[in-house]
Amino acid sequence: MTDRVHQQYEAMRDHFRRAADRRGFTLDPAQEAPVERLSRLAGELAHPAWRLRRPPRHLYLWGPVGRGKSWLVDTFLDGLPTPRKRRLHFHDFFRRLHEGVAHHSGARASDGAAVDRAVDELLGDCRILVFDEFHAHDAGDAMLVARLFRTLLERRITLVSTSNYPPAGLMPDPLYHHLFEPTIRLIEERMDVLDVCGTTDFRRSRPAGAHGFALGARLRPGDEASAGLTRPRPEEAGPVTAHHRELPALAVHDDLVWFGFEELCEGRTAVQDYLALAERFPALVLDGVPPLVEASPDGRRRFANLVDVHCDRDVPLILIGADPLAGLADGSTLMRDLDRTASRLALLRQPAPDAVR
Ligand SMILES: Nc1ncnc2c1ncn2[C@@H]1O[C@H](COP(=O)(O)OP(=O)(O)OP(=O)(O)O)[C@@H](O)[C@H]1O
Ligand SMILES: [Mg+2]
Repeated sequence: MTDRVHQQYEAMRDHFRRAADRRGFTLDPAQEAPVERLSRLAGELAHPAWRLRRPPRHLYLWGPVGRGKSWLVDTFLDGLPTPRKRRLHFHDFFRRLHEGVAHHSGARASDGAAVDRAVDELLGDCRILVFDEFHAHDAGDAMLVARLFRTLLERRITLVSTSNYPPAGLMPDPLYHHLFEPTIRLIEERMDVLDVCGTTDFRRSRPAGAHGFALGARLRPGDEASAGLTRPRPEEAGPVTAHHRELPALAVHDDLVWFGFEELCEGRTAVQDYLALAERFPALVLDGVPPLVEASPDGRRRFANLVDVHCDRDVPLILIGADPLAGLADGSTLMRDLDRTASRLALLRQPAPDAVR
């Protein structure tokens, strides 16, 4: 190792230790290998790009929810001295990619050249791209994701992505899995795959209210005042423009927007709408939340996306209604699908146990 590479490697290891200290935790044994690998990557990036024949190898970190993957990659990015770095959440990346592709090809996502151009615009001059929470569930998106990966892996950048799925588990639906196999092979060949499979979901092991998204809350109907909220009057209802469409809100204030579950999660809304709302409003209240077993499959998926978007952006979400997870049997397929959501909901201030219905 040259001095510079070694220095950068050591600096990143230190940076991880200090970042954990500041948050009052110690690294989990399952995080040691990723910290070592990310520190090596920081060392490799100490070389100017033009000195390297090819960019450092891509990384794919995967593991169950709440194991500290996003913390690892965010801390890594934060400690990298280069300004040529970007972090994008999967939902965000996809939204921008769709917009870019539409701009270049008049909405034909199948147009490979348009995808390439849109990716180039998103990458700008970055050397390192962190792509958080990568997943592929939607068969309709499989081709776009495939093209995206091929394009990304060919660029002179290093891609670091996190996922809840090992590469072979991407696109879990057996009906569509085969469509994704070429991308899986590409990921396995071109990326170093590391697991972060510790035993603890740190979100659930920590008292709710510790920080960030924890500013959100779950409230029983009637307890709004305890969170400083006043139920909207009927005349406060009105439309809010989200992503290219108007959604019926119960109230719109500068500091929050108030929606009913029925309108926001059971209506025809998309992740793009939630991103637009999270960008515009400092908080979102979702009223009339049912136990998710009673919601439609689409309603559940939309609710999960809404929680993801707000958690990722640290925008408080205030849920009023039933316990969304009530009646879900541990180990049931439904509970497994909602595992990410359950982990994130643990960050919300909860009603007192005897008050949970
Ligand atoms: N070693 C650790 N000890 C305690 N808390 C930790 C540790 N590492 C990370 N955390 C904290 O645990 C929480 C969950 O971590 P993070 O969001 O990175 O999980 P994740 O693996 O990305 O989960 P998901 O797959 O659901 O996105 C964060 O608040 C993070 O700061
Ligand atoms: Mg994460």
